[in-house]
Amino acid sequence: MSLIDRDRAYVWHPFTQAQVAPDPIPIASAEGVWLYATDGKKYLDANSSWWTIVHGHGNKHIADAIHQQFLTADHLIFAGATHSKAVEVAERMVNVLPKGFQKVFFSDNGSTSVEVGIKMIYQYWHNKGIKKKRFLAMEGAYHGDTFGAMSVGQRGYFNKPFEHLFFDVDYIPFPTEENIDDVIQKMEEFFKTGDFAGFIVEPLVQGAAGMRIYKPEWLEKMMQLAQKYEVKSIADEVMTGFYRTGTFFAINQIETLPDFICLSKGVTGGVMPIGLTVTTSEIFDAFLGEDTSTALLHGHSFTANPLSCSAVCASLDLFEKPETESGIQRIVVGHKNFLDTHGDNPIFKSAKQMGTILSLEIEIGEESGYFSSIRTEAYQYFLENEILLRPLGNVIFFNPPYCINQEELDMVYSHIMRFLRQCKSTP
Ligand SMILES: Cc1ncc(COP(=O)(O)O)c(C=O)c1O
Repeated sequence: MSLIDRDRAYVWHPFTQAQVAPDPIPIASAEGVWLYATDGKKYLDANSSWWTIVHGHGNKHIADAIHQQFLTADHLIFAGATHSKAVEVAERMVNVLPKGFQKVFFSDNGSTSVEVGIKMIYQYWHNKGIKKKRFLAMEGAYHGDTFGAMSVGQRGYFNKPFEHLFFDVDYIPFPTEENIDDVIQKMEEFFKTGDFAGFIVEPLVQGAAGMRIYKPEWLEKMMQLAQKYEVKSIADEVMTGFYRTGTFFAINQIETLPDFICLSKGVTGGVMPIGLTVTTSEIFDAFLGEDTSTALLHGHSFTANPLSCSAVCASLDLFEKPETESGIQRIVVGHKNFLDTHGDNPIFKSAKQMGTILSLEIEIGEESGYFSSIRTEAYQYFLENEILLRPLGNVIFFNPPYCINQEELDMVYSHIMRFLRQCKSTP
C-alpha cells in the first residue's frame, strides 16, 4: 500500500472533509525552507508549516540541543519536580519579554496556552471573592480549538456544533480607520458594567481571520481601557510572537502591557510542541494560600517536556545570532519592496505588511464566480510552481522561515504576481 493509501485507511486529518479532500501531499523530508515529497517534487514552505518553523527545517543547533537533552533526561513529571531546561526557559522568556512578566506556566500548544490564561483569569477573580462573569474578545478572533479558546473565538461555521456550550462572551468589531472611535467607545461601555473578568486579543494581526493587520496605537488604547477598568487582559501571541510582527513580540510595539501573554508555534523554533502562558506576580500571588483550594489545579502529562524546553532554549540562542536578524530584515525589506511596487494594484482590496507577514487581500467584487474559488485556485497554482502556500479565503499571505534567501523570496513574489495576472489582467 502506498503512503497515501495507508493514510486514507488510518488517519483522520485536521480541518479536513475526508470524503472530498484531495490526497494530502506525501512529504518525505524537510530542510531549510524546502519540503521534499515522496514523488520527487519539492515545495517552498511559504507559510512556515502552519506559521511555526521560524528558523527553517532541520536546524542543526536545535537538533543537537534536543538530541543532547534526550541523552540527559527525556521526559519528567513536572508536579513536585523541576529540571534545568524548564527553569532556563522561564528565566530567559521573562528576560526577553517586557518588564513586568514574571511567571511562566507550561502546556502543550497554542490552544492550551490560551485555555490556561482564561482559567487563570476566572480563578483570579474567584480567589479574590469578586464575581465577574463576562469576557470580551474581538470579532474574527481565533484562539484555538479547546472549549475555552473556542468560546472566545469568532462564533460560526467552525464551532457551530458546540456553540450552546460556550460561556458568555461579548465582541468588539475589528478596528479600522473608520470605526476605531466606536470600537473604543463600545469597549468602554462594556467595561463600565464592571462585569468583565477578561479581555483577549490577537495583538496587531488577526491570524486565522485572514492576517488582518491593525495599528499599535489602537491596541494601546484597548490595553489602557482594560487596565483602567481592571479587566485582566490576554495578548494571544501564539502566531505573532518571535518577530512575526517585526519586533520580538507584538506587545513590544505598545506601552501598556497585558496581564498575560500566550505563546506557542515559534517558541521552539516550531519543531516541538509547547505552550507558554506568561503572567505577572500580581496574578500569581492571588493563587497563594495555605491549601490547594486557591491553587491552579491544572496540568498536562507533557507539561514542560524537557525536549521541548531544550528546543526553546536553542531557538532563543538563534535569535541572538546576527544571521537570524539579517534573515528577518531580508523578509521585512522584501515585503516592503513588493508593496512599494505592487501595493497600489487594484487587484488588491488591501495589501499590507506587518514585519515578516505579507497579507494580500484579493479584490473579488460582490459575487465574482471566478474569484470566489480563489483559495483553491491559488493553492493549486502555487503547488504546481513548487510553493506550499495556503491562502485564507481570498487572502494570500506570505510568512516564510527566517532562513529564506533572496532568490527564494523573489520566486514567491513573482509567482504571486503571475498568479494574479493569470486570473485577471492587471495594469
Ligand atoms: C492566535 C492563535 N491562537 C491560538 C492558536 C491555536 O494554537 P494551536 O493550533 O497550537 O492549538 C492559533 C493557531 O493558529 C493562533 O493563531
